[in-house]
Amino acid sequence: AARLRVRDALVAQEPAGEVKVQGWVRSVRRQKEVLFLHINDGSSLENLQVVADPSLENRDLTFGSAVEVQGKLVKSPHRMQNMELKAETIHVVGPCDTLSFPLKVKERHPLEYVRQFPHLRCRTNTLSSLLRIRSEATAAIHSFFQDNGYVHIHTPIITSNDCEGAGELFQIETSNEAKESEEKTHFFNVPAFLTVSGQLHLEVMAGAFTHVFTFGPTFRAEDSQSRRHLAEFYMVEAELSFTESLQDVMQVMEDLLKTTTNRVLSKCPRDVELFHKYIAPAQKVINVAGKELQSFYSFWGLLISYNEAVEILKQAPQTFTFKPEWGCDLQREHEKYLVKHCGEVPVFVLNYPYDLKPFYMRDNEDGPQHTVAAVDLLVPGIGELCGGSLREERLPLLQSRLQRLGLTDAYQWYLDLRKFGSVPHGGFGMGFERYLQYILGVDNIKDVIPFPRFSHSCLL
Ligand code: 4AD
Ligand code: MG
Repeated sequence: AARLRVRDALVAQEPAGEVKVQGWVRSVRRQKEVLFLHINDGSSLENLQVVADPSLENRDLTFGSAVEVQGKLVKSPHRMQNMELKAETIHVVGPCDTLSFPLKVKERHPLEYVRQFPHLRCRTNTLSSLLRIRSEATAAIHSFFQDNGYVHIHTPIITSNDCEGAGELFQIETSNEAKESEEKTHFFNVPAFLTVSGQLHLEVMAGAFTHVFTFGPTFRAEDSQSRRHLAEFYMVEAELSFTESLQDVMQVMEDLLKTTTNRVLSKCPRDVELFHKYIAPAQKVINVAGKELQSFYSFWGLLISYNEAVEILKQAPQTFTFKPEWGCDLQREHEKYLVKHCGEVPVFVLNYPYDLKPFYMRDNEDGPQHTVAAVDLLVPGIGELCGGSLREERLPLLQSRLQRLGLTDAYQWYLDLRKFGSVPHGGFGMGFERYLQYILGVDNIKDVIPFPRFSHSCLL
């Protein structure tokens, strides 16, 4: 018998004899004359209905068990489904101890509950939908860049630089027993860390390929117990050479978001719908139904400067825990207010204070309020989704900034890039999990990753 995925079985146009479906039982319903099963194999949110003679019933055929069903695919008499499987044989491949199985039949378990079972939660509708969406979004992001002429670069995970200069680094050393000798202090002879961003390596490549991107794991030792921070997350980063304006960088952010979201909505409509219906019904999310989607495609362009943002915050009728002052970082509460003030749409904030941002950002050479050409994209419900900038391509300015920071030796190679064919360039990074939270309306970032264990600085 030909093996058939549930997804393909459900959309089959023609009946088929002798097919085999493998999956896990989601429900067993016994009637006098007939036995109904629902089988799921992860290929779609919908289950395949199996219709069997009660004589095929078996003690091990329970919710959660793994089965192989052989039979004929026929048109279903039920209005709600297209096809069903008329079973000839049912083989229980792996029984399920239903008493100790933490997932229960037909129950919509809260996300907090299933989070306690990182090894089992992919068997729930919510997590399996999420993981299909995550997989589709990953493919969409790769296609977007490949289709637009970007070269994909595998930037290193282990690195000696602290790109963001924020000191939120996990250091790499061997475990004590493996240390070779007392005097050897570092495994690589220099301190090495898990990467916080692939940007500096992308800048190297942008010096040969003009358009490059990377999409990989990123690590931050942030001591924050927030719903938007992970210790290990995925970042999409792009770097564009011969780019003199932040507009160019913002355009790529916009195109990336629209193209990716479009593909996710068209490839996984039911999975996305589940989130909008059950997980985020109260939140403002991109509605598949069209109207809000239209605004998702047309709202772009809301643009304010950091200076304007601070003025808006100062005039806000509410008090903030962190008093808004020029020169201070925008806190979550500030981002939230700004997005609300702008009408709950994505907002680009441009030109941040020079002293607030990492060494690589391009000096706007303005004053007295000294800024750099940085841009953050703030979105409803999340806050910062993307962060980018023009990079300082002028050797003297970069040299003096690194000197003041005492980083000249460490970044000699980076200065080299400004000596050998330097061009104006810029780029950005987008947090992949925050993107998923945004389009799906998921409040807690732990619920958009496959395994939540080391999601925070502390264990789950
Ligand atoms: O704003 P960030 O720190 O920017 C950079 O690292 C730049 N070097 C990127 C670049 O220009 N190539 O991080 C980029 C994005 C943030 O906007 C946020 O969405 C996400 O990464 N992010 C996190 N997501 C989850 N957990 C964390 N701890 C995150 N820290 C940053
Ligand atoms: Mg940032």
